[in-house]
Amino acid sequence: MGESTVAMGIDNDAGAAPNAPPQQLMERLKDYGQEHVFALWDELSPQERHLLLNDIQSLDLSRIDRIIRCSLRSHGLSVAAIEPVPESCVSSVEERTMEERERWWKMGLKAISEGKLAVLLLSGGQGTRLGSSDPKGCFNIGLPSGKSLFQLQAERILCVQRLATHAMNEAGSVAINWYIMTSPFTDDATRKFFESHKYFGLEADQVTFFQQGTIPCISKDGRYIMDTPYKVAKAPDGNGGVYSALKSSRLLEDMASRGIKYVDCYGVDNALVRVADPTFLGYFIDKGVAAAAKVVRKAYPQEKVGVFVRRGKGGPLTVVEYSELDQSLASAVNQQTGRLRFCWSNVCLHMFTLDFLNQVANGLEKDSIYHLAEKKIQSIHGYTMGLKLEQFIFDAFPYAPSTALFEVLREEEFAPVKNANGSNYDTPDSARLLVLRLHARWVVAAGGFLTHSVPLYSTGVEVSPRCSYAGENLESICRGRTFHAPCEITF
Ligand code: UD1
Repeated sequence: MGESTVAMGIDNDAGAAPNAPPQQLMERLKDYGQEHVFALWDELSPQERHLLLNDIQSLDLSRIDRIIRCSLRSHGLSVAAIEPVPESCVSSVEERTMEERERWWKMGLKAISEGKLAVLLLSGGQGTRLGSSDPKGCFNIGLPSGKSLFQLQAERILCVQRLATHAMNEAGSVAINWYIMTSPFTDDATRKFFESHKYFGLEADQVTFFQQGTIPCISKDGRYIMDTPYKVAKAPDGNGGVYSALKSSRLLEDMASRGIKYVDCYGVDNALVRVADPTFLGYFIDKGVAAAAKVVRKAYPQEKVGVFVRRGKGGPLTVVEYSELDQSLASAVNQQTGRLRFCWSNVCLHMFTLDFLNQVANGLEKDSIYHLAEKKIQSIHGYTMGLKLEQFIFDAFPYAPSTALFEVLREEEFAPVKNANGSNYDTPDSARLLVLRLHARWVVAAGGFLTHSVPLYSTGVEVSPRCSYAGENLESICRGRTFHAPCEITF
């Protein structure tokens, strides 16, 4: 992963802590302006000195120095000229025909039944905005079923497996491999959650956990922040750390050996995420592109979503994150359409060919420019403002030989869970309502009726993914039946 061990000839025997920091290590740290990590050496116990030496030893000092220097140097420089994404690069909801949708759905199911699709969950984030110390996927957003985000995703995978098996009249059953990226902050709790819930009905061997790397948090002048007197403060290296993590855990080879050709990669915190969506996969295969992303229309200029842009005239498609988009550009309006110029929002759902992932895993690491995010960091001086260094998953897009964007409706596929209840937007409460309202529409469209003792806008019903993935196959369960909201509809 991101940090390789640099042998410094340090004795690891806890009983024999040196009285002074090893000279050779001190010299190297001085070269990189990081010798302050030993500032409290004299006050440390022998065990603490060993912990500190091991911690420093685990860092690839020269690589981190290169990343810090390159990232600080380029930080704040204006984003190279960006252009709106040409309409021709986007498959919009309006222009899609029923025939195309059906064709893509079937193509996708076929590829899934042939074992060509894997899903890859990005779940290494710390979820600090949500105010929970558990991994975000464990979060229960208060649906009638009480299901966690992980369970909703697992059951959607189960549903697609069943649909693919039926569609192909396969005698055997289809299994979709699920790769879950954690970080040292989420790994243990995530694994335990899956074990204690018996993998939500999936086979344990179709779920693979792997960890992303971490990187030191730094002050504005590039110096490591100390978490404790004997430990450097570190944070996950961003969801773009997935590429080097896949490579170092040799999972790209694992995927190839299983016959996987396409990888559906998504963020953990969208309660409506259509994991392993056959339509999107069919579209992706049909277009023959190396990378694709689902997009929704941006709701308002300040919405905290990245937007797809084109880098320069005729340049590649990429995403500019909300934290890096100039406010005037975020609000700029296309005078002809009256819509925002940069209107295609990233919902953190990407499809890649395995070939492209291999290419990126070998190439992106050489790109030493990381994004810098100013965050509160736990340090020996209490919480302090510092910088986290991150790569983003979409940093790979400019390397793609071909890219396609697939518009989806936000009320059908985007229910972000970012902030704690009480915030104005993207909370568990707002996500729950989006799920309940969509599922209520499915039930009514399938001939069902709803009663409710609270206003309908504040309630609805939940359809278990055991019954339906995207509103299909509900007539036999719903037609002529009345459901009292809120409730879960399941077999
Ligand atoms: C993310 C997107 C943003 C998009 C928005 C939609 C990125 C960098 N940004 O923003 O463009 O509009 O979602 O909801 O993708 N994660 C890791 N490791 C990390 C950091 C994050 O696995 O080191 C995971 C998180 O667990 C989460 C996903 O990546 O599943 C998104 O990360 P987060 O930091 O929450 O991004 P947002 O700011 O919400």
